[in-house]
Amino acid sequence: MSQVMSRSDQGTVAGPGFVLSEPKFHPPGARPGIVIRTASLKRLATAQAPVITVTAPPGYGKTALMAQWAYRLGPRVAWLSCDDADNDPVVLLTALAIALDRIGPVDPAIFQALASSGAGVTMVPRFVSAVASMRPPVTVLLDQVEAVTNRQCLNAIAEFALRLPPGWQLALASRTAVPLPTARLRAQGGLLEITADDLAMGPPEACSLLHGAGVEADEASLADLLRRTEGWPTGLYIAALAMKSGTGQSAVGFTVTGDDIFVGDYLRSELLEQISGAEMSFLARTSVLDRMSGPLCDAILNGQGSGAVLEQLEARNLLVVPLDRRREWYRYHHLFRELLRAELQRREPGLVQDLHFRAAMWFEANAMPEAAIGHAQAAGDYDRVARLILELQQPVWAVGRVETVRRWMEGIRDSPGRQHDGRHAGVPARDLGPRWRRRNAARCADRPGGAEPSEPLPGDDAVRGRPFPPPGR
Ligand SMILES: Nc1ncnc2c1ncn2[C@@H]1O[C@H](COP(=O)(O)OP(=O)(O)OP(=O)(O)O)[C@@H](O)[C@H]1O
Ligand SMILES: [Mg+2]
Repeated sequence: MSQVMSRSDQGTVAGPGFVLSEPKFHPPGARPGIVIRTASLKRLATAQAPVITVTAPPGYGKTALMAQWAYRLGPRVAWLSCDDADNDPVVLLTALAIALDRIGPVDPAIFQALASSGAGVTMVPRFVSAVASMRPPVTVLLDQVEAVTNRQCLNAIAEFALRLPPGWQLALASRTAVPLPTARLRAQGGLLEITADDLAMGPPEACSLLHGAGVEADEASLADLLRRTEGWPTGLYIAALAMKSGTGQSAVGFTVTGDDIFVGDYLRSELLEQISGAEMSFLARTSVLDRMSGPLCDAILNGQGSGAVLEQLEARNLLVVPLDRRREWYRYHHLFRELLRAELQRREPGLVQDLHFRAAMWFEANAMPEAAIGHAQAAGDYDRVARLILELQQPVWAVGRVETVRRWMEGIRDSPGRQHDGRHAGVPARDLGPRWRRRNAARCADRPGGAEPSEPLPGDDAVRGRPFPPPGR
């Protein structure tokens, strides 16, 4: 690993000026009962195409397939699970460089170059030439690409796909289609597309899935289940849990697909029925968190023993995914979390802001201020948002994460409480103004194309001494 980064014991990787969670760089571990996706793996193993897309609705087994492929490929794989923070080209490309650095050393200069460039699509050619000396084969697997919505990041991914060094492959798994220059990619050597039709399980795979979950189904029940689920692996798994607990004979008179409305109804009728009131309350309340640890859950619930509850939920395979080997951090399966959040909104809407408020306090007190910002925003705690952004924006900007700062500033501007923010927001924005630029002249001089960032600075209104406009303007 290059000297620019360091791994900590807390399951994080420190990049230049920011921290990424270690699980981001690893495919999820295989659990007992997993079905080997033989047909799709064969297509992947024999694919000549340098670029591969795996596109299917939630819960179709995209991650499971990519993980199986990663394990087959062995050490020459760079894995990246994308998330919301990757909506900044500097973060995305730095994370990609860190993932590649696990295969072979990446020139540390590229990290500095990314940080000082405010990287965008123009940085991709330099990025590729910095990593191209890595001997093939190299396979880059990006999972959860649907989390990346920032235009510059999507352009950077497309550019990277077009410029892949010889002998490399890039696979992108996403719930939604990733905008790629498909015609050019086809002309350059091809594109393999794996879709929901390919991932839908047929009778033998569905039978193995049920068997792995401890359920034996006769031919007629299997056929009925396949008709109802259309081979959707999550539906099959949930049905298996329901059958195991004896509730599976309940009439579910609709066809289950990955479409949200059915997912919600299905999960509610088949899964949540089996959960006790106390468990339901724990699950619903903690669904405001995108990752959970025992102490964090204790803090937001004002209780104790959450670590043990999380362990039990995982042991019962209730769509709780461990994020590290030490079982400190967990997350809910995405679909499950969406449902739980809807449940919380339905049962205790008045509690949502309070839970976010406590989460923001906990993350801030535990030296994770970036994670605190989103919760403070959701809590309507705009003073905290403004204060955190004030503290963070300069170091974050200084490592080139222009898009991150811009998103924060837009969040302040768009917030219903923005009348409070002029007081705070004027200060950080001025810090990004001429004085800040003079202080950072050396770094700006490194920037290709001139002494100033090519992007308009966030909060430029305030740079010119104007407060943020009052609501409604
Ligand atoms: N190969 C498999 N063997 C057994 N179960 C599977 C398999 N693939 C998927 N499943 C079931 O479906 C669930 C969802 O799988 P996975 O997380 O891979 O889907 P996904 O398409 O990546 O979903 P998302 O869009 O939410 O990321 C798993 O938790 C598991 O219950
Ligand atoms: Mg997935």
